Amino acid sequence: MALRRFDLDAGGESFAFCAETEPKIAFWLAKYPEDRQRSAVIPLLWLAQKDNQGWLSEPAMRTVAELLDMPYIRVYEVATFYTMFRLQPVGRHHIQICGTTPCMLRGANDLKDIATDKIGAKMHVSDNGQLSWEEVECLGACVNAPMVQINDYYYEDLSAASFADILAKLDQGEAVAPGSFAERINSAPFGVPTTLSEEALYNGARLIDSLPNLLTEEANPAADKKKDA
Ligand code: FES
Repeated sequence: MALRRFDLDAGGESFAFCAETEPKIAFWLAKYPEDRQRSAVIPLLWLAQKDNQGWLSEPAMRTVAELLDMPYIRVYEVATFYTMFRLQPVGRHHIQICGTTPCMLRGANDLKDIATDKIGAKMHVSDNGQLSWEEVECLGACVNAPMVQINDYYYEDLSAASFADILAKLDQGEAVAPGSFAERINSAPFGVPTTLSEEALYNGARLIDSLPNLLTEEANPAADKKKDA
């Protein structure tokens, strides 16, 4: 694993949660007993990252430590271990490109080339502050490979062309709806559905009154007992 350190210069001297985040902090703290509040360290770091333009600064890490009455080093260990916490500034749209095998086999390397070409090296923030990217491990959407996560949303079934188009639009400040970029609904087969195509199979019209391995009364002593009682 790469060495991960806070960007101290970019992080400034202080950090404060947004007022709207306070109820979310209270929600997470309420999940744990009085003497186990530090169990909320990961969600609180996550909230701090959101309130800090998508990355976690060293003062933000310290704010979380003070809130949870934890030694700084304990929170530091968590923040530097989990790559979901970004320790340097990112663009307004931070793109996580999945590079794990299913996505790689379906074209993730092309997406990485496009990101390098349009944005620059990993974690470089584009000049207008709109874009940055990094490579991540499997994001659990392999059935829609190749895919990327942009901020909180998944963009799936990408091609080199559709990914380049997304980058161009985001770079211009345009919104791009997440989801699949192929002719399919979510993770359904491409084209027309190939399962549950006969409505009577699932709308209740065709009742199932026997199953091949359903226990018969003879073979089920429990049923006999019930009958005798
Ligand atoms: S391999 Fe890319 S989402 Fe699983």
